[in-house]
Amino acid sequence: MQFGVLAAGIFALTTTVHATAGYSATEKYSLWMAQSLISRNDGIMNESFSSAPLQAGFTQKAFTALLAQYPDDDNANIYRDYVRSSVDSVLHYFANGIATADLQYPLDRLSSGNALLDLSADASNQTAASAYQLGVETLRSSIDVNRRNSVLGLWYYVYPEWSYLDGMYSLAPFYARYALSRGTKDAEVITAINGTAVDDIMYQLDLLWQRCLNITSGLLAHGYDDSRTAVWANPETGASPNVWGRSLGWYFMALVDTLEILSSQPVTQGYTKQLGERYRSLAAAVIQAVDSQTGAWWQVVDQPGRKGNYIESSASSMFTYGLLKGVRLGYLEGNDAESSKTIGVGAYEYLTNTFVVYENERVLGWNGTVTICSLNSTATYEYYVGQPLRYNSVLGSAAYILASLEYESIQGSN
Ligand SMILES: *[C@@H]1O[C@H](CO)[C@@H](O)[C@H](O)[C@H]1NC(C)=O
Ligand SMILES: *[C@@H]1O[C@H](CO)[C@@H](O)[C@H](O)[C@H]1NC(C)=O
Ligand SMILES: *[C@@H]1O[C@H](CO)[C@@H](O)[C@H](O)[C@H]1NC(C)=O
Ligand SMILES: *[C@@H]1O[C@H](CO)[C@@H](O)[C@H](O)[C@H]1NC(C)=O
Ligand SMILES: *[C@@H]1O[C@H](CO)[C@@H](O)[C@H](O)[C@H]1NC(C)=O
Ligand SMILES: *[C@@H]1O[C@H](CO)[C@@H](O)[C@H](O)[C@H]1NC(C)=O
Repeated sequence: MQFGVLAAGIFALTTTVHATAGYSATEKYSLWMAQSLISRNDGIMNESFSSAPLQAGFTQKAFTALLAQYPDDDNANIYRDYVRSSVDSVLHYFANGIATADLQYPLDRLSSGNALLDLSADASNQTAASAYQLGVETLRSSIDVNRRNSVLGLWYYVYPEWSYLDGMYSLAPFYARYALSRGTKDAEVITAINGTAVDDIMYQLDLLWQRCLNITSGLLAHGYDDSRTAVWANPETGASPNVWGRSLGWYFMALVDTLEILSSQPVTQGYTKQLGERYRSLAAAVIQAVDSQTGAWWQVVDQPGRKGNYIESSASSMFTYGLLKGVRLGYLEGNDAESSKTIGVGAYEYLTNTFVVYENERVLGWNGTVTICSLNSTATYEYYVGQPLRYNSVLGSAAYILASLEYESIQGSN
């Protein structure tokens, strides 16, 4: 869609909508998309399929970020209630006291942990807080009983010895916040690695880095098989052969979000040097990999223009968020910050023009997000580009909310 058409469309939509739904011509896309998720009941877990917890947890994280940025929005209470409903829906399926039962879900289950921590600290309702507290403790214990491979990497899911980039977005920020909420990083000694919880976080991120990094491109492959027996496993490292956009997006967001948490307290400052270096290195590789025509990123990131490849909307939103957030928090400086900002802003505008769908006067849709790519497959290039797209996938629309918030923050500070 051309910019002129888009701008005219927004104007028409928002002016007609103004009286009925409280939207105005200055409506932010973050808020507008969040309202749209609510209208679809997205992020409320109502079935037990394996990626359902991630849809809920990711929605909670996007809405929590939105509330932090717009605490005085007219609809703030609606967003706050929605986070609680999403958490409640997840508690119904897991986190009810039996940590091993949670292992029927991948590490993504931990994505609800941050909102659970917030709710468990709410002193206004002790009865509810103690239910959330039980949820927090169950989730945290599920890390201790999660299986590990021979080098102590956490299995992502039920596949023996396999670790994926994907799980890090849900694991690291929750594990870090939990450790800090207990007062000192040393409160938790993880026997398996003879270190603290924060050491374990660094160790898990590092293992994936060591095994999956392609030193030519600076990008990371989807995951690795420590047993090196999978059809796709690199005989030396165990790495899978392709750089899948969304898995790298999860990992990139994990780095920047964990950096934010560990930077927040003196006791964990010491960990931020390596994490910051990794973040900056990956940001540079992500910038290098951007498509020069569209300004966004390919489904198979390092195969630009190859037959079947396409610009994927969830990964592109995640990279946009990760780059712009790093600029906002000062993790990138000088020329790095400048190029990151330029690339992030350009990508955001392309995503808005291309993947936002104006369903009706109040509701936005979201297009161009791939369903799921699993390493329980051939993991070939053809596999990644052959997986179907899903319209209104919350893994894309919630990522777009996060990207929108960063974009709006940068626009606001200009
Ligand atoms: C679960 O929620 C989704 C919306 O997120 C809805 O489309 C679906 O019909 C619901 N499934 C059930 C079993 O209620
Ligand atoms: C406390 O929370 C519980 C569970 O969400 C709810 O049923 C109850 O009404 C709440 N009590 C008060 C006083 O808000
Ligand atoms: C942890 O410490 C024990 C006892 O000192 C040792 O046997 C084990 O190899 C250590 N594990 C790791 C991962 O360093
Ligand atoms: C690393 O990336 C380069 C450039 O994308 C590619 O040509 C090469 O095959 C990759 N190496 C491995 C081991 O995947
Ligand atoms: C989503 O994108 C596809 C491919 O460009 C297009 O065919 C489809 O019409 C789009 N869906 C909506 C609802 O715009
Ligand atoms: C892994 O893939 C096989 C073959 O497609 C399938 O039968 C199996 O259910 C998959 N496992 C899981 C846990 O999804």
